[in-house]
Amino acid sequence: MSLVKVAPRSTAFSFKTDAIAADKSISHRCAMFSMLANGESVVENFLRAEDTMNSLRIVEKLGATVVDDGKTIRISSKGIQESEDILDCGNSGTGMRLFCGLLASAEGHFILTGDEYLKRRPMKRVTSPLRSIGAKLDGRNEGDLAPLSIRGASLKAFDYESKIASAQVKSAMILAALRADGTCTYKEPELSRDHTERMLKGMGADISVDGLTTTIKPMTALLSPLKIRVPADPSSAFFFAVAAAITPGSEVVLEGVTFNPTRIEAFKALERMGAEISYDLKEDVYEPIGNITIKQAPLKAIRVDDNISWLIDELPVLSIAMACAEGRSVIANAEELRVKESDRISTVVDNLKACGIEVEEFEDGYAVTGGTLTSAKVDSFGDHRIAMSFIIAGLRCGMEVSDIDCINTSFPNFFTLLSQITDVEL
Ligand code: S3P
Repeated sequence: MSLVKVAPRSTAFSFKTDAIAADKSISHRCAMFSMLANGESVVENFLRAEDTMNSLRIVEKLGATVVDDGKTIRISSKGIQESEDILDCGNSGTGMRLFCGLLASAEGHFILTGDEYLKRRPMKRVTSPLRSIGAKLDGRNEGDLAPLSIRGASLKAFDYESKIASAQVKSAMILAALRADGTCTYKEPELSRDHTERMLKGMGADISVDGLTTTIKPMTALLSPLKIRVPADPSSAFFFAVAAAITPGSEVVLEGVTFNPTRIEAFKALERMGAEISYDLKEDVYEPIGNITIKQAPLKAIRVDDNISWLIDELPVLSIAMACAEGRSVIANAEELRVKESDRISTVVDNLKACGIEVEEFEDGYAVTGGTLTSAKVDSFGDHRIAMSFIIAGLRCGMEVSDIDCINTSFPNFFTLLSQITDVEL
């Protein structure tokens, strides 16, 4: 199991990059939605990380032709075909949950599996609503745990009200609705990331959004292919935002990032903490895209308990900023953290304590009292965002983080960028 030692950085840095990893959510969707198009989808800057490459391999196994010249990925489908192989989503909850929606109505029998972590994550949140509209899905623990088996079936129109603000559940249901036998509605308690709605609408699907309710009319024909350049992932960019925010006198410019409001809430939280942040909009294709500049300034504690799904993936590294801020910060209403790639409430709490920070754990979050981060040996628990968060903490005090291969699931060039601002020993 590989580990990294990161050196502390005491002097200011100024760092500008256009090489932040491409957006993971959008890349998964590019692979999957191409299966619904009537021609070749052309995708620039597809995320070449383990999670999204697994989705691309699955799409190929489902009969799509994928031509990759190393720069542009072209995907053409002749409709979803049964695969004689098991479909391996690796570490990706997004991959597994969205494929459930896509395959629920496809002709054939499909098996979805994943790695040891994914096989422990809850799938009932998608299998249960999909079963309620006629899908034939099953798995261990009454359909909750992978491997999952799917036998394509005809799906009934639905009006579904979800108790959780989850873009994965919403997207699975929207994909199912596209082939249901009538108009469907999906209501969520809080708006979750909306890439699915934006991209499918851009492809010509009849989808309308009114507040928290999405109305989907079934497809009457195949959709137009995607022509897209995937923007940089704000969740990956945010590691470098925090790196600048905790290093006196520093500044970063992160280029080509999506400004989708459901994705940049963590930057707004860091701004509330005192960091100076500016946004320079450059284009608007499916999503608003531009450059974000973050300048260090003294940080103060905040409370985060609203629009949690808009910054759920960034909470681990935001907690590092909280550990460097003055006062006691609180994260609440964030019980979803417990079912991510690791139980991110307990993994953040344990690791912050190992770094000498005072933390109180709650069922739905934790409180972090800003103090002095001290060098420690911590584990990633197989979770890419825990690994990168504590590596960023190492900029303050030095850190050794073990089991770091998981970083390849979302941000394969993380160390190339990091080594431009500190010494990294792999
Ligand atoms: C994602 C949705 C979120 C997020 C995940 C990616 C997506 O999960 O945490 O990293 O691409 O739809 P939930 O839907 O479980 O909130």
